[in-house]
Amino acid sequence: MPIGSNGQKVVSLSPDRRTSFFGRDIVSVRQFSREDLAYLFGVADEMRGIVRRVGATDLLKGYVLANLFYEPSTRTSSSFIAAMARLGGATIPIHGVQYSSVTKGESLPDTIRTLQCYADVIVLRHPEVGASEVAARYATKPVISAGDGIGEHPTQGLLDLYTIYSELGVVDGLHVAMVGDLKNGRTVHSLARLLRLYDTRFTFVSPEILRLPEELKGELTELGLQVEETDRVEDVIREADIVYVTRVQKERFADLREYEAVKDYYEITPELMGRAKERMALMHPLPRVGEIHYDVDDDPRAAYFRQMENGMYIRMALLAAVLGKA
Ligand code: NCD
Repeated sequence: MPIGSNGQKVVSLSPDRRTSFFGRDIVSVRQFSREDLAYLFGVADEMRGIVRRVGATDLLKGYVLANLFYEPSTRTSSSFIAAMARLGGATIPIHGVQYSSVTKGESLPDTIRTLQCYADVIVLRHPEVGASEVAARYATKPVISAGDGIGEHPTQGLLDLYTIYSELGVVDGLHVAMVGDLKNGRTVHSLARLLRLYDTRFTFVSPEILRLPEELKGELTELGLQVEETDRVEDVIREADIVYVTRVQKERFADLREYEAVKDYYEITPELMGRAKERMALMHPLPRVGEIHYDVDDDPRAAYFRQMENGMYIRMALLAAVLGKA
């Protein structure tokens, strides 16, 4: 029986690990503990095994996902659809809200109330910070944020952390350099918040106007984590275990002249990678628009395509977990 069929979010009282996910909304990475993450990564490993061995399972047969995107997406939306398909479920894809009743003036709460009549779980990408929390308040079915404006992108943070773990085998004790638009990059915000659960040393690399928000920096420093800032990748490339590069988020600039001034600030080149550690991982949530040279793609440390594949396994794990089937 799909959860929420009685109109209520189901909160399991079972003491097992499912309690952290079953029937829950996924709107911020702040809700997770290290134990939750270990559990989720274990499930993601299983999903990877299933996909590689047999391609699909019928774990979510009969379940329906509403995939509601108010902003552009390639990877996040298609990996959720693929995840649902590989678990035997179905998807209602709403990717051009211009073709939905949103253009008739329908509010987010009403759209959510509508979709939950048809679906068991709702994935939402929205340009406003906090939109997924609003949606979750109105929804009786689990809401999974696929990114809310410049706020968070929790499922990307989870797949990024899973990639770090898959690439290097550990998370504790790593020096993580985050490069690019740290102000507007929601994936940076989610990943940094997840990494604060571990013994992480951070170097934030950006031009002055794209620095990490003070509030988030405070969340890291108050835990006693080592946090440095610079505007030069060269300062950190030799030492970093993870170099996490992001695109300058053009759509978040009110003044496009400011965007033009910083858009080509960084480029990771084969020459720069020549100075990096032999065992490290170069990551990017993608899409890239010039921050990583195409000649770097064949470098075994270039993890961004594996990272993107990991997204499907993490999303399979999340869907199964919130629906109580993991
Ligand atoms: C990111 C996003 O949408 O925040 N993309 C993604 O989901 N992989 C990063 C970006 O758009 O720069």
